[in-house]
Amino acid sequence: MHPALETFVFKRGARSVRNRTVLAAMTNKQSHPDGTLSEDEIQWLEARSEGGFGIVTTAATNVEEDGQGWEGEFGTWSEGHLNGLTKMAKAIKNHGGIGLTQLFHGGMRAPERLTGLQPKSASANDLGHGLGKSRAMEEKEIEETIRAFGRAANLCERAGFDGVELHGAHGYLIAQFLGSSTNRRKDAWGGNQTKRTRFLAEIVHEVRRSTGPDFLVGVRLSPVLSSCGLGLDDALETLELCNAMELDFVHVSCWDITETGVANSREQPYTSHFREVLDDEVPLMTTGGVWNAQEAELAFEQGADFVGVARAGIAHPNWPSYLAAGQAEPQRPPFDEAMLTEAKLSPVFIQYMRRWDGFVSD
Ligand SMILES: Cc1cc2nc3c(=O)[nH]c(=O)nc-3n(C[C@H](O)[C@H](O)[C@H](O)COP(=O)(O)O)c2cc1C
Repeated sequence: MHPALETFVFKRGARSVRNRTVLAAMTNKQSHPDGTLSEDEIQWLEARSEGGFGIVTTAATNVEEDGQGWEGEFGTWSEGHLNGLTKMAKAIKNHGGIGLTQLFHGGMRAPERLTGLQPKSASANDLGHGLGKSRAMEEKEIEETIRAFGRAANLCERAGFDGVELHGAHGYLIAQFLGSSTNRRKDAWGGNQTKRTRFLAEIVHEVRRSTGPDFLVGVRLSPVLSSCGLGLDDALETLELCNAMELDFVHVSCWDITETGVANSREQPYTSHFREVLDDEVPLMTTGGVWNAQEAELAFEQGADFVGVARAGIAHPNWPSYLAAGQAEPQRPPFDEAMLTEAKLSPVFIQYMRRWDGFVSD
């Protein structure tokens, strides 16, 4: 049997997952300006649970109103979001998938055009594109944002989700705290990697405090992030600190799982580095460039316990079924609109996918 088709049981709550496939978080811009979920966004994820993914992760969702990164992003910052979240959690659960929301705050990448406010971050950072600078958060604000992550997780738990993935990858607020070029603070929240990781550690602690004992809490991290000044050694130092947090999984976002990096004088794939540093009992997910069964198998050879896909899961709601022996390979991009519509993407999402080189055919 393909390793991704084996079941997995999380220690916490003895929660069983039907296989080791993950639909990675994907922003899809299909929700409403007030942060409430749309039917389109619910149906898109429902179809992936119906299609057999073990874990279905939502798009990144902002835990504070001023943390919104894009138009059409759903929020988890208000009780008014509970109804939609409950519908979504139920839709995922009804088809047997484990549902996780991806909690985040855009920080310096939450544009003023959407929030009406100067973006906040660990430090006053250049926003690029002539947009000025972010504002360094005051200590009191840092604490407020940490509490917002806890409240959002609690909201998701009440909605019926199985857990949350804290988005510490790709350059948003948590990553802005982790990186030495975006976090130049001299107080308790910056200075060395341990201090730069404190924001994440406190969020994990607060989310745990705000949710029940069976609720899953994981973290997504980038192995390298030049935009924030985070190198592989820094990421691994943060990962080492993750071992002391009460985490149920770590998700390394590789973009391409065959990519390698050097740490401790050894060159190997990022996933293998992560596996070596992360405690054995903490499951590791990895995502990046996987389309077929062979590529998915590589993730397990590198030491992962789960394999994630994003783009393959857009085109193929039933992607896990391609992993069974004797199946044909899933078609790769470009995809035409009819196929994407059939795969439960609304015109808004299809339009967004045109920005991903070569994904949608004309
Ligand atoms: C349309 C789209 C939206 C994405 N949005 C998110 C997001 O909200 N959060 C996140 O952590 N990653 C996001 N990603 C990155 C994916 O989760 C994934 O790591 C990346 O696409 C590489 O995987 P793939 O090669 O299987 O597509 C997005 C990717 C795509 C294609």
